[in-house]
Amino acid sequence: MSWVKENCVSFFQLLCIKVVNTGRIPQHIAFIMDGNRRYAKKHSVNSSEGHYKGFDKLSETLKWCLDIGVPEVTVYAFSIENFKRKEEEVSALMNLARDKFKRLLDEMDQLNEWGMRVHVAGRLSLLPDDLRSLVSEAMLATKDNNKLRLNIAYAYTGRDEISRAASHIVDGVRNNELAPEDIDEELVSQTLELSEPDLLVRTSGEVRLSDFMLWQVSNSVVYFTDVLWPDFTIWNLLAAIIHFQRHAALPKAGENTTSDRKQQFLRQLESRRLQELQKYVNC
Ligand code: FPP
Ligand code: MG
Repeated sequence: MSWVKENCVSFFQLLCIKVVNTGRIPQHIAFIMDGNRRYAKKHSVNSSEGHYKGFDKLSETLKWCLDIGVPEVTVYAFSIENFKRKEEEVSALMNLARDKFKRLLDEMDQLNEWGMRVHVAGRLSLLPDDLRSLVSEAMLATKDNNKLRLNIAYAYTGRDEISRAASHIVDGVRNNELAPEDIDEELVSQTLELSEPDLLVRTSGEVRLSDFMLWQVSNSVVYFTDVLWPDFTIWNLLAAIIHFQRHAALPKAGENTTSDRKQQFLRQLESRRLQELQKYVNC
């Protein structure tokens, strides 16, 4: 299946989207897509089939998010802990990713039409070389799209992301790009790969954060639902958004205190990240 599924939205669903749109829409939703293997077991198919169904659900969800007007979505697709699963399952998940990223590169025209940018956040050095090269190519190819940003947390944990940000900041101080007094919460937030979601959704009845976006979710509304990820529907998504509308704090007025030096450091960091991706594509 393609990355964004052309869903046929019924008149009633459209009406409900319009009603929900009269309230505040989360500008960034993060999903812990959990329950693929339980879904597979329920349907007597192998776990790999469950993960493929999970990808299909992601592509449906992306279209719903576009229809609703959510500009940023982050999904937890593979945790560093998931490398400890059976070799057979890890290799099936890597093959699924290979398959889908190849497809993404074949579907660039459609992706550009949707305005979708794909960012893979995680420790890319842990990925097999060919997959690392594919995801880097996908990131570079979509980097100028700005209608929907899809962040895929892959070979990711929140604590690892914070450690990587800390090490970038240490390098910044060592290279005199930053002064020690520049280090504050704002700088750490801006150095992380992922931004703060307004709403975090976890499916399958589990109520843990499982080391996902630990720094970023400190002020997010969290929504847990029993539905298994491949069974997730537009009604579950609208229910999560209504939950957000009932529980979100008022948005804070954004004051920009980032000094020129910090901005320069962040620009250099971004440019180093892009160079690294280019290096991965070339090798
Ligand atoms: C959690 O369910 C799901 C995963 C570990 C993998 C999620 C991956 C996808 C939905 C595919 C995304 C792929 C790309 C390339 C974006 P689980 O395996 O923990 O199931 P369980 O909780 O029932 O055991
Ligand atoms: Mg699970």
